[in-house]
Amino acid sequence: MPITLGPITGHTTTNSVKIWLRGETGAGGTKPVAAIDLYQNGQRVQSRYEPLTAEFDYCGVARFDGLEAGTRYEVRADCLHFPSDQAPAVGIAVGQAVATSPATHTGSFRTATDTARKIRFLFGSCRWQEPTFPMSFSMREGDIPFRSMARLHNRNPYDFLMLIGDQVYTDAMGFLRRRKTAESFFELYRDTFEKQHFRNITGKVPTYMILDDHEIEDDWSRNRMACGGEEDRERFNIAMRAYQAYQNLHNPDTDAAGDPGAQLWYSFDWGVFPFFVLDNMTRKWTRPEDSDASSKTTGQLEAPTMLGAVQMKALTDWLDQNKDAPKKFIVTPEPVFPDRKNRELADKWPAFDQERGHLLHHIRREQIQNVVLLGGAVHNTSFTRMTCDQDPMFRVDSLVSSPIYAIPMNFTNRGKMILDGRLNLPDGETGTPHTFRYKCAQDDFFSENSFMEVEVDADRETMIHATAYRRDGKGERAYKF
Ligand SMILES: [Fe+2]
Repeated sequence: MPITLGPITGHTTTNSVKIWLRGETGAGGTKPVAAIDLYQNGQRVQSRYEPLTAEFDYCGVARFDGLEAGTRYEVRADCLHFPSDQAPAVGIAVGQAVATSPATHTGSFRTATDTARKIRFLFGSCRWQEPTFPMSFSMREGDIPFRSMARLHNRNPYDFLMLIGDQVYTDAMGFLRRRKTAESFFELYRDTFEKQHFRNITGKVPTYMILDDHEIEDDWSRNRMACGGEEDRERFNIAMRAYQAYQNLHNPDTDAAGDPGAQLWYSFDWGVFPFFVLDNMTRKWTRPEDSDASSKTTGQLEAPTMLGAVQMKALTDWLDQNKDAPKKFIVTPEPVFPDRKNRELADKWPAFDQERGHLLHHIRREQIQNVVLLGGAVHNTSFTRMTCDQDPMFRVDSLVSSPIYAIPMNFTNRGKMILDGRLNLPDGETGTPHTFRYKCAQDDFFSENSFMEVEVDADRETMIHATAYRRDGKGERAYKF
């Protein structure tokens, strides 16, 4: 039986790759097993059997090591079924080709080179797609951006693609269709991941993912776990199981999603450029007073937190370690800036000013240059630069791109944003007042379905050339900085 989804090329390094797929349960109680071969120039180089379990909706991943840098490989992926007492051992290398049936699906990828000083990648967020009538048109319309990405890739290849939140909207229909069961979450993932153009691009470009709120529910926070009752805790468990199965399995290694203590953030390097991908969602406490209700080990928090202390420490350590990188990228699904005008939103960065100040002051105090934030979620696209009145050396740039696809009523237009902002954030260590200012130029903001191409060249004066593309693949704005 052929695989039902994938193969997706996941985290790729100079010498390894993760290949993800979904199989299907077999007839007569047979056991499904993922069977994956890698080829180089038509020669088989490695083969693996991997487990496919009902817990993860028959999604599985194979990691191949010992590959050559900067090299193109072909993938052949299949799902085989065995009587349970005859199933082969899984999670190990196999000495001969295993994906040999006519039903085999193919993919390809190129491994990274660690000395690359010029890279190209795509990022985007938010796929508002709902298969239920009368919104089912969104399944087709929301796949068009991936066709555009593939066309651009065929013209000038990308190194990787980052989908930085709201890969599914489990709550797209609000109360009209409230998904509650694991099967209903899995079904949504299956419907979106099987779309032709999404499947095509993610099969040939290494793809990274991180969740935002709609993978769980709009405006999610840990407070819901502590105070929301059994239904909310169950929702979190189901959403995390689905996130682990469909998204996190092919990311760089993290804890398995599900345990409330799981660390889901990750970092990776591409060429000479480091990336840190933040989990803005599962560590978030909007009301610190709720925190000791469910977190007996850490006790009550002193202030609201978006990231949690452990993740913040990991981020600032990473910044210190990568101080000399020509550009360093922090992926933060919820943009650190610019802010929305609505200050009532308890789950966005303005509600976490102490923590936002901690991050900005760390960058300022340690004189970390060339930090670029990549954000999504807000349903508009912008380039914004932040400076600090008291420290002329300080500069942080922010690129925001969203949504890949949403219906028009879901946009956040210019009038709802603060595009010329001022944040008074004292240095948490010395108490000295500081004013951080950010400005997004008139032309650098728009609200349309779009995704972003970023080309970084360490040897060019304006290292970053970014282009925001409309869904149909037409260039909409160019940013050089
Ligand atoms: Fe979104």
